[in-house]
Amino acid sequence: MTELIRIDPEKLEEELIDRVVNVFKKGGLVAFPTETVYGLGALVSKRDSIRRIYEVKGRPMDNPLIIHVDKVEMFIEYSREPPDVIVDLLKRFWPGPLTVVYWRNNKVPDEATASLPKAAFRSPAHPVALEFIKRVGEAIAAPSANKSGKPSPTRAEHVYRDLYGLVDVIVDSGDTLYGVESTIIDFTVNPPRLLRPGAIPVEVVEEHIGVKIDIPPEARGLSEFKEALAPGMKYRHYAPDAELVVVETRDYVVKLSKLIETVRKLVVEAKDRFRKIAILCSEETCGSYVDLNVYLFNIGSRENLFTVAKRLFSALRDLDENNIEFAVAEGFEELGLGLTIMNRLRKASMGNVILVD
Ligand code: TXA
Ligand code: MG
Repeated sequence: MTELIRIDPEKLEEELIDRVVNVFKKGGLVAFPTETVYGLGALVSKRDSIRRIYEVKGRPMDNPLIIHVDKVEMFIEYSREPPDVIVDLLKRFWPGPLTVVYWRNNKVPDEATASLPKAAFRSPAHPVALEFIKRVGEAIAAPSANKSGKPSPTRAEHVYRDLYGLVDVIVDSGDTLYGVESTIIDFTVNPPRLLRPGAIPVEVVEEHIGVKIDIPPEARGLSEFKEALAPGMKYRHYAPDAELVVVETRDYVVKLSKLIETVRKLVVEAKDRFRKIAILCSEETCGSYVDLNVYLFNIGSRENLFTVAKRLFSALRDLDENNIEFAVAEGFEELGLGLTIMNRLRKASMGNVILVD
């Protein structure tokens, strides 16, 4: 049985918080809101519960979870003497959507980290999540609360769809603020390496630490799908049921009309093969497709990538809700949050990318 509990982040009603805290303490699985996406949590000390997270998500066992802490002090409790530069960085950005990968000690069980000697840590900037961590008195291990391979949930309804009946509690606190996951940086290597672009632009972190962060092709969403072509080697990510194509260019000002032409051509050609077709377009361009008579999802203005990132996962889920069979998504400039958006889009399309030049 899955219990649904609505918690107003501004009220944090004692009785409701108590109910959820008890479920955590008994080893239950709780889907809970953070400022990025909903997470599926268990107490870090409950090894069996952590194993259950992998089962209900259908998550490959070699993909470790994030250890959610309330404060920097709790991170220090679970890690191996982090240097001042990391502690300072976290004091600046926590609570918030920055995840650091650092050496862990044995208070973090192997189950949560796929037996790696390092773990990913973050402190979520959401009153409900923080209250849970404080009240249970230990860290909460949690991945995003979606079925493996699906877009991360940005509202409780998305969690119901994927995990109803499989988890003990779903806490509903409405839409998440960022709608996209945290930025993950590995600080066990030098220079630090971006593992996943996310809600905090990597440039902002670089400016604070005064060091260039290494951005490998995987972080752009560019190389993992090559491996994916080898059977069973890599996983689907964020993927809608529809076949998805992403149309990119290196200059979204000069080449925008050419990009629109390419999207139109792809849609016209697809009409022979598919009945239900959609375009994920921007505020600036959606009007150029109206005559095509396909579903248009406006995911926001090119001038406001915060909104685009926020709407993206929800739009990918809307494709499924509307039984879309084929979709074309416009790309966005790969700066700031644009890197995060392009990572998700390229992965969602499984490398089905067309570059307009
Ligand atoms: O915003 C977020 O980060 C959300 C909310 C719920 O906190 N969580 C989230 O978790 O997106 P998940 O499991 O979907 O993604 C965690 C990522 C995975 O890609 C995993 O590979 C990486 O963190 N990760 C975790 N531990 C790691 C480690 N020790 N080394 C390298 N990567 C790690
Ligand atoms: Mg995830």
